[in-house]
Amino acid sequence: MSDDLRNLREDLKGELTAVNDYQDHIDLAEDDEVREVLAHIRDEEKEHVAELVRLLRKLDEVQEAKFREEEG
Ligand SMILES: [Fe+2]
Repeated sequence: MSDDLRNLREDLKGELTAVNDYQDHIDLAEDDEVREVLAHIRDEEKEHVAELVRLLRKLDEVQEAKFREEEG
């Protein structure tokens, strides 16, 4: 396995954790502006997830095949 793939998977874990962490803080926030800004950041993290998944699909042909199977 290439170092790039291993690192991309680690990065993906971090981005997914970030989405959950921001969501937890949104749920706890008392101030509307805080909630709004954190929601914006959370959605940027979701964009990062999508960017990393795109790269994984490009570089890992088995992963790409599995996505295609699931997508029908
Ligand atoms: Fe990120």
